Amino acid sequence: MCICKYSISIAKNSGFCFGVKRAIKITLEAAEQYKKIQTIGPLIHNPQMVEKLKANGVNYVSSIDNVKSDSTVIIRSHGITKGAYKDLSDKKVKIIDATCPYVAKTQQFCKELSENGFQVVILGDRNHPEVVALESFVKSKAIIVSSAEELPHANYKKLGIISQTTQTFDKFSDLANKAIAMAKEVHVVNTICNATDIRQQCTLKLAEKSDIMIVIGGKNSSNTKMLAKISSSVVCTHHIETSDELDMKWFEGNHKIGITAGASTPDWIILDIYNKIIERLCGRNLQVADIEEIPGYKEE
Ligand code: F3S
Repeated sequence: MCICKYSISIAKNSGFCFGVKRAIKITLEAAEQYKKIQTIGPLIHNPQMVEKLKANGVNYVSSIDNVKSDSTVIIRSHGITKGAYKDLSDKKVKIIDATCPYVAKTQQFCKELSENGFQVVILGDRNHPEVVALESFVKSKAIIVSSAEELPHANYKKLGIISQTTQTFDKFSDLANKAIAMAKEVHVVNTICNATDIRQQCTLKLAEKSDIMIVIGGKNSSNTKMLAKISSSVVCTHHIETSDELDMKWFEGNHKIGITAGASTPDWIILDIYNKIIERLCGRNLQVADIEEIPGYKEE
């Protein structure tokens, strides 16, 4: 794309994952149809996208108590607890469910395993909204662990092992191995979504062949922060939210530039940063309008 001394590439699968893309699409379509749209907590962890949604009449509240009775509520990709769903139904608000289908499937596994007498063990972050919601689908009490070491020693009869969608496979297999040694019957359902893992692997690959990496995404986005951490373990890395933070001094002597973005980073922010880098470094006003035109980009 660039004919000057710089090469600028983007990591494969950068930006929105399937579930986030779907939730945004559902929300923007709803915004065309309904007036007061609310979400419980921000729809995604990206301040610029939250502002854009606000401009389209989509606001977030911190709890169900603050939901107005004449509003339309969008359920985020993380899903909500069964209790929260009932509270919303009792308020008689219009509910549009944008729970990621992979998360919804995991909720279903929680329900089925517990109904079939399995002690459900969830690998995940107990405070994360996805895990809080998953727990509510377990009939009896779920055991939530952040690693295999946290699984309490006991003689379990039947253990059902599932995972928050964004956990790593290594941690999950450690937990499954430990469970097998502790119970007569173990049912393991791999509910890990590979969107996170794929983004991390692609970022690492690009970082290894770059002189400098630009990681784009919310400073409050844990998946973007993880990409920045992985990238900075191999090469000089800058984590930015918008093109305003670009500093051209970063690129002095660094000609191979890699770009990556978290699963909650919208395409228009990635494109804006890419176009600004080209314009300032190469003096060319390409104005690439589609992320797929950036060298290296491919969604799998
Ligand atoms: Fe869904 Fe996977 Fe994204 S579970 S929300 S597609 S990270």
